[in-house]
Amino acid sequence: MRAVEFIAKKRDGGEHTEEELRDFIGKVTEGSLPDYQVSAWLMAVFLRGMTMQETCALTRAMRDSGERIDLSDLPNGPTLDKHSTGGVGDKTSLVVAPLLAAAGIPILKMSGRGLGFSGGTIDKLEAIPGLRTALGREEAKQQVRSIGLAILSQSSQLAPADGKLYALRDVTATVESIPLIASSIMSKKLAGGAKRILLDVKVGSGSFMRELEQARALASTLVTIGVQEGVPTQAVLTDMEEPLGWTVGNALEVEEAIRVLQNADAAEPRFLALCLGLVEHGLLACERAKNPQEAQNIAEQLLRSGTGAAKLEAMIRAQGGPKALEAVLTALPRAPITYRVEAPEDGFIAAIDARVVGLLAVALGAGRSTKEDRIDPAVGIVLHKKRGAWVHAGEPLATLHLQDTQASQRDHFKTMLLSAYRFAAEPVVLPPSPLLEVL
Ligand code: URA
Repeated sequence: MRAVEFIAKKRDGGEHTEEELRDFIGKVTEGSLPDYQVSAWLMAVFLRGMTMQETCALTRAMRDSGERIDLSDLPNGPTLDKHSTGGVGDKTSLVVAPLLAAAGIPILKMSGRGLGFSGGTIDKLEAIPGLRTALGREEAKQQVRSIGLAILSQSSQLAPADGKLYALRDVTATVESIPLIASSIMSKKLAGGAKRILLDVKVGSGSFMRELEQARALASTLVTIGVQEGVPTQAVLTDMEEPLGWTVGNALEVEEAIRVLQNADAAEPRFLALCLGLVEHGLLACERAKNPQEAQNIAEQLLRSGTGAAKLEAMIRAQGGPKALEAVLTALPRAPITYRVEAPEDGFIAAIDARVVGLLAVALGAGRSTKEDRIDPAVGIVLHKKRGAWVHAGEPLATLHLQDTQASQRDHFKTMLLSAYRFAAEPVVLPPSPLLEVL
């Protein structure tokens, strides 16, 4: 089918066949279509949507646009891939993956870099001096055989059609489309060879899906694709209204993740509850626990025993970073200037808008506006109080970590941060965990 007819079919609300989609994705991959035609089709999909059948067919075509990794020869049962749809301060993978590996589940996790307000696990890991994330496929598998855990950057050979489509979606206002997000995520997960998939679908201001209904629809599409392709897939919906944990910024988040694994009592309670919840679902998905109560006990025990910390240490060492976690903490880059932001009034913190904080992190240099931007691993934001806390006017709310060159902009950054806050006279009641629903 000619590209113009293919675009017109979707524009007019038609349903593509698998063959048409394969043909189109083949052309996108080889670069034989101009960007304006691909973009026009993306907008048609954004406006018209796709049936479940089309979304699955698109996912398969994208999965098959590059290499496929076979992990079936790894020992100790099925590998698990845990994936978040992206949030602000989301360092859960740095806590959850080592804990699941400590339970004996082989984890080979391919992660991405951050773009826009949401961060990426690879950027966080690369804040650790010496650590490599560009592991070859065999090298990563060997690492999983020896220590049970590897987190690596997605190779450009994995679902390359997604790379091309994503770059266009990013500049044509077509990111927030359920079939496009679902096929983008699942094509990479399926090409990456995971045998079980655990998806953390974020909902709220610091995520792609701001409404619960939309996030539910995305989660159910993701799960349906996984199951249809024969990979048991589970999704949880989790609250992304405020930044996760105490920190936003790459080195700061690595430090926070290490400290959670070393001493759970220091963890921000809702962040810890989310990590433990994800570990519990991972244990159940991989049949390492018979029921939720047993999963909860195992997750707590893995955390308190320090075995998760030992796994993270082994992984960092294997990937070229410092040999011990204490050495990692010393080696992490630190920004030269810290600037305290105080509460402007008395009150309960009713909101800390995650999107605003994420955009501030980008403005500081901790994130990227475009794929080409370089990030600064040292800068970021440390929150001292979270939603629900009472603060007096003048009490420290947060600390900005800045470079010398940013000193003159600190009042601008402070204003930006304070615009994320809403204060209330009445107590704000929050559920103890950001985990909202399980699909
Ligand atoms: N993450 C992805 O990999 N793709 C999307 O489209 C959105 C989030």
